[in-house]
Amino acid sequence: MSQNHSPRRVIPSLALLILLPLLTAFSGEANPPLPLGQHIVLSWNDLGMHCMNKDHAQMSILPPYNNLFAQVIERGDAGSLPRILDTEISLEYSIPGNTYSVGKTDFWEWDFDLFGVDLPPNIGLTGKGLEGEMDAHPGHYVAEGIPVTPFTDAEPDVEDPYQQALIIARDGSGMELARSEPVIPVSTEVNCVSSGCHTSEDNIIFGHDNEGGYNPYDQPILCAGCHASPALGTPGIPEAKYFSFQIHDKHKFMDETNPGQIGCEKCHPGPNTHCLRGTMNTDFGMVCQDCHGNMEQVSGSIENGRTPWLDEPACRDCHTSTYGEPVGQLYRNSQGHGGVYCAGCHGSPHAIFPSREARDNANNIALQGHSGTLRDCTVCHGVNPGGSGPHGIVATDIVEAEIMGSRDRMLVYPSPLMPGGTATFLARNEEGARGRMLVFDARGRTIRLLDPQADGSGHARAAWDGTDRGGQRVAAGVYFVRWEAGQRSAAGKVVLVD
Ligand code: HEC
Ligand code: HEC
Ligand code: HEC
Ligand code: HEC
Ligand code: HEC
Ligand code: HEC
Repeated sequence: MSQNHSPRRVIPSLALLILLPLLTAFSGEANPPLPLGQHIVLSWNDLGMHCMNKDHAQMSILPPYNNLFAQVIERGDAGSLPRILDTEISLEYSIPGNTYSVGKTDFWEWDFDLFGVDLPPNIGLTGKGLEGEMDAHPGHYVAEGIPVTPFTDAEPDVEDPYQQALIIARDGSGMELARSEPVIPVSTEVNCVSSGCHTSEDNIIFGHDNEGGYNPYDQPILCAGCHASPALGTPGIPEAKYFSFQIHDKHKFMDETNPGQIGCEKCHPGPNTHCLRGTMNTDFGMVCQDCHGNMEQVSGSIENGRTPWLDEPACRDCHTSTYGEPVGQLYRNSQGHGGVYCAGCHGSPHAIFPSREARDNANNIALQGHSGTLRDCTVCHGVNPGGSGPHGIVATDIVEAEIMGSRDRMLVYPSPLMPGGTATFLARNEEGARGRMLVFDARGRTIRLLDPQADGSGHARAAWDGTDRGGQRVAAGVYFVRWEAGQRSAAGKVVLVD
């Protein structure tokens, strides 16, 4: 890792200390979501960022071209599992506040020269516009090739790379069932000139060798016209090799001159956009090179057989296979628990939840009341299901409901409990019985049998030092304590921090 992790280690514990008393005072949910209907929509962008050129008159790397994905889930209940729907429901998409692209980029003046098609205004290369219907595929919906620019109608001169789209699900009669607001990320920070590296586009165009029929006067020049790019689906000409190979190989001196994320951000968006914004970047300090390698490795791996855009890093490279995609499959094409796409719960690549950008987190806040991975089973199941869920996780609420349920509340202090501290549990007990007191972890495993004493002031009292039966300190987390004496019982909850 290129940066150390210490900030995260310290900050969350501090945040916990400040937040937990508040949270427990409101008994759990800080931000209760609106009640969900019978359907929910999960939605995301395939790559986490799309680049485009604003000006295409001289040379073009990428046209405006964005892809949205969605899944519609009919929520379950106590008697039925959730269902992923892909027929009978239609999904329409739009980008509120961004209704046209012509004039915000000159792409429509050069579409024929670059791609051999004369597109109607504001219509992209696949025939999609800035609003329309998503196409149904088995288990999901896609709108591919949306020609969105990072410029809103209100401020067409200001780049806003993280605009939110709006997706509305309707049944056969046109009634709205649910909506979702994915970020449709796009940036023009493909900076050959504005990065301060090249003096002009002419400098690039006339600096290119006249090989393979290259003619600097034949403008606009589509680099991927000769240099194969799976992003655009251009086969190129063999002697020109992959565009990704040439561009990273030519600039590999930057591993020395501009090491780290700022180097990649000279061309990938960018010093304003900072497209890498997921938890691994913001909470764990990881940068592009941690996952992709440096310039030399990005280009060198292509010479060694890697197909650009199709062979990319995978979660399973660093996390265990329980938390990975199927081998040989991209994250963006992979499904996990119950057929839900990985990105449906974790977000787009480079924006893995929780994201630095509030707009990325909006959907999960609407669904479960807080940002981060979609982890609340009831969002899809309507109830807390009995079996294990994503990656084998069981619903901790089931354990909580069973232990806390209808019992009296016990007095617990202090909570949170610091390492090395001792928690005191007090259960009201006028009869003076000692009863049995047990500590459980969040998964419902029994951790410790305590020895409560009648304390003479109407309570059964016990102390717990945060260790298990073997005297080992238990991991940080939520623990439950239950006291039972004949007909009487009480329960409480203690949070252990590290
Ligand atoms: C008409 C075809 C054609 C077009 C269009 C084209 N190239 Fe090339 N390019 C080539 C060929 C052929 C080579 C030589 C490959 C070799 O020698 O390895 C090459 C080589 C390169 C190299 C490596 C050679 C060097 O200078 O060190 C880079 C970098 C490069 N091109 C970038 C670009 C960029 C950027 C664009 C768009 C502005 C572009 N090319 C457009 C055909 C083309
Ligand atoms: C935590 C690991 C990680 C970091 C850090 C990371 N990437 Fe990626 N990158 C991935 C993964 C995983 C994919 C494949 C995503 C997919 O398409 O399924 C990917 C794919 C890509 C792609 C191909 C398009 C796509 O999304 O498939 C580009 C371009 C890219 N990354 C650039 C960057 C740049 C530039 C940075 C730094 C600003 C960066 N990445 C940082 C993991 C990472
Ligand atoms: C000099 C400009 C430039 C720099 C610097 C740069 N890239 Fe790129 N990168 C590009 C361009 C242009 C493309 C698009 C190539 C295509 O269309 O196939 C690209 C595509 C990619 C891709 C997708 C294609 C593939 O090979 O899988 C990845 C991944 C990637 N870059 C990673 C990085 C990382 C990591 C860094 C920093 C170490 C970096 N890039 C620095 C210009 C650059
Ligand atoms: C290059 C290695 C690498 C890759 C590739 C990678 N991760 Fe990570 N990930 C890490 C590391 C290291 C951490 C931080 C672990 C720590 O320090 O506790 C992390 C942390 C996380 C976390 C936060 C966990 C927590 O406890 O808060 C999530 C979520 C996550 N990764 C998801 C993903 C997903 C999804 C992918 C694939 C798109 C992925 N990771 C790809 C290395 C990687
Ligand atoms: C239904 C929602 C859901 C789906 C779908 C899902 N995950 Fe997860 N994922 C979670 C939850 C919840 C966690 C937190 C796990 C925990 O705390 O034990 C998690 C954790 C992770 C982590 C972090 C593990 C760590 O080391 O902390 C990775 C990586 C990950 N998932 C990858 C994936 C991949 C890859 C897929 C698709 C094949 C996927 N997930 C599908 C909900 C989901
Ligand atoms: C994003 C939606 C979503 C979330 C969140 C979710 N599930 Fe599911 N779950 C599904 C879907 C879809 C199915 C598939 C139903 C089917 O097979 O027809 C499913 C199936 C199941 C099943 C039964 C089938 C099987 O795969 O064994 C269990 C048990 C289950 N989920 C438990 C959980 C638990 C526990 C959680 C929370 C930790 C959870 N789920 C969170 C969507 C979700």
